[in-house]
Amino acid sequence: MSAEIGFAVVGLGMGRHHCKAVQSAPGARLVGVCDLDPERLAPAAEEYDCKAWNRLDELLADDAVDVVNIATPSGTHVELALKVAAAGKHLIVEKPADIRVDRIDELIAAVDKAGVKAAGIFQSRLDPLNGQIRDAVADGKLGNLIGVHGHLPWYRKQAYYDGDHGSWKGTWDMDGGGSLMNQGVHTVDLLQWFAGPVASVMGMFGVFAHDIEAEDQAVALLKFECGAIGTLFTTTCAFPGFDQRIMLYGSEGSVSKREGALDGWKLINDEDGSQEAQMLESFGLKADKKSGSADPLAVSFDGHTQIVIDLMDAIREGRDPHISLDSARHAVEIINAIYESGRTGKEVTLGKGA
Ligand SMILES: NC(=O)c1ccc[n+]([C@@H]2O[C@H](COP(=O)([O-])OP(=O)(O)OC[C@H]3O[C@@H](n4cnc5c(N)ncnc54)[C@H](O)[C@@H]3O)[C@@H](O)[C@H]2O)c1
Repeated sequence: MSAEIGFAVVGLGMGRHHCKAVQSAPGARLVGVCDLDPERLAPAAEEYDCKAWNRLDELLADDAVDVVNIATPSGTHVELALKVAAAGKHLIVEKPADIRVDRIDELIAAVDKAGVKAAGIFQSRLDPLNGQIRDAVADGKLGNLIGVHGHLPWYRKQAYYDGDHGSWKGTWDMDGGGSLMNQGVHTVDLLQWFAGPVASVMGMFGVFAHDIEAEDQAVALLKFECGAIGTLFTTTCAFPGFDQRIMLYGSEGSVSKREGALDGWKLINDEDGSQEAQMLESFGLKADKKSGSADPLAVSFDGHTQIVIDLMDAIREGRDPHISLDSARHAVEIINAIYESGRTGKEVTLGKGA
């Protein structure tokens, strides 16, 4: 492999963020793009001045490609990724890594066997504020966690599900669900990244305001292995789309954030409020934060760039990427358990490959 690492991006909706991320990462070169839709393929190849393939098999035959970024409909991720790993190329796989945990496990085994590296995409973990919250929990600053809550009151017009590339969204076999699996997976991942594994769930979901198959609103009760309990709420019905809220309460303090901004950092031992003032100064509400609350593409690609850089470092250093597929699987396991609970009306215990 040359000092420069060659990338190809498959799927040119969100995949365009991957193209920009690759082009912004020092040492990465975008060799080409791939999409079944010629109306997306040609303009992207022209804009990024790179090769165009309309089939994955064609790009896999190109020796200049070292890494393949998969940004196709979620239910196709593992099917395509297995071919990439078998061709001896490294991988970046959009969220969710797939819609089924057994398939993610199949991919983890295939990646291991092929000796390639594979990263998932959970760019929220790279937000410095989220890193601070995770560290605060791990360092015991909140004491014993008691409550862990995530709310995602987002909005998507019907056109989001009906447009040229909308027909897979909100379906069980390609999206693996609706507001929870597609939009909510980042929130679910953050909750488990902050608080640790979820032991059991109870869920309820339905279709309320869209003509879709799966769901556009879901609620769940969560029991964490650490002993905390919590709530989760996701929707694409909340016109015009409000900020994601995450709140964690512990025996020694509480943290509250709204989308990318901190709005409360209350520690019992911070009697003069100086720690909170410092945290609010660094991470408090800023008017320029980008949010996907009403527009799916209004998210920054900075996190994707960091994931590209980390994967290149992982390849060079022979280590796992920081967001490994292994660490990306639990969110999918939690979500599928919530759907199972909603269908059966029963509490579902995790760890059985839900
Ligand atoms: N990280 C994030 O914040 C974020 C945001 C939005 C979407 N996503 C994820 O990105 C993925 C794509 O979502 P999207 O909204 O861009 O969908 P989309 O439908 O707009 O784009 C998917 C593209 O993949 C192409 N495609 C499908 N099958 C293909 C194949 N076999 N070979 C080549 N091209 C193929 C389609 O033609 C389409 O252009 C999903 O998994 C979604 O969850 C992630």
